[in-house]
Amino acid sequence: MHKNIDKIKKLEGPPKIIRNLFDNNEIKKFLNLYKNLPTTVHNKKQNVIKKRWLKNYNEELENLFYKKVKNEIGDFKMDNLKDEKNDDILGLFQESYNPIGLHVDAGFDLNEIIFKQTLIPLTSKGSTVIFKNRFYGNSTNFTIDESELKIKDLKYGQNIRSSEHLKMYEKKDFNKKEHEKYLKHEKIENLAGLEIDVVYEWELGSMLIFDRTRLHCSSSLIEGKKIGLTTFTKK
Ligand SMILES: [Fe+2]
Repeated sequence: MHKNIDKIKKLEGPPKIIRNLFDNNEIKKFLNLYKNLPTTVHNKKQNVIKKRWLKNYNEELENLFYKKVKNEIGDFKMDNLKDEKNDDILGLFQESYNPIGLHVDAGFDLNEIIFKQTLIPLTSKGSTVIFKNRFYGNSTNFTIDESELKIKDLKYGQNIRSSEHLKMYEKKDFNKKEHEKYLKHEKIENLAGLEIDVVYEWELGSMLIFDRTRLHCSSSLIEGKKIGLTTFTKK
């Protein structure tokens, strides 16, 4: 569990969608940056390409991003991982053809005061489901898949696998209609006790900001591929 839960809770608030924050030209610059960055992970099974946003690749975008986010959430620090050369990673570009499963991005250091995370869509089709439920441990993938739960040998920056969430919230079945509409890629049993807060429909130029303690996942509605940029902040 996080050591500073009280401080973390005081910083919490509802998810926020900011529209018309970036113009077409700025979105193009983010996409160009994405193209130019080296590929980190290409998981053929999940059909996802991940690229780290490395510091000093494009300082103009770093400044633009920092200014826009500060304007929405006030003072913050980036909660950066380091790459092999000890360079800062500002965020993660993810290109996916399949929906990403239920998880929380609460970080890898229980002493930090985790704050908000941001999502900037770089393609127009996609959506992200934010649940009302929160979790105060480290970054975790929530699953009931036995083969996933067996994975204990985690590398730096990899999420824990757990089914702990099923013991944490009110024991009730997940809403069948919402499951059918948004979350067909998840087993409904894995969603027991969860409640949707917001379904963020991706829109170019907009940004989603939400607390790092919130459980979330992609919705099952994907047409072709989607590319998004996620970053993590702390106080
Ligand atoms: Fe996430």
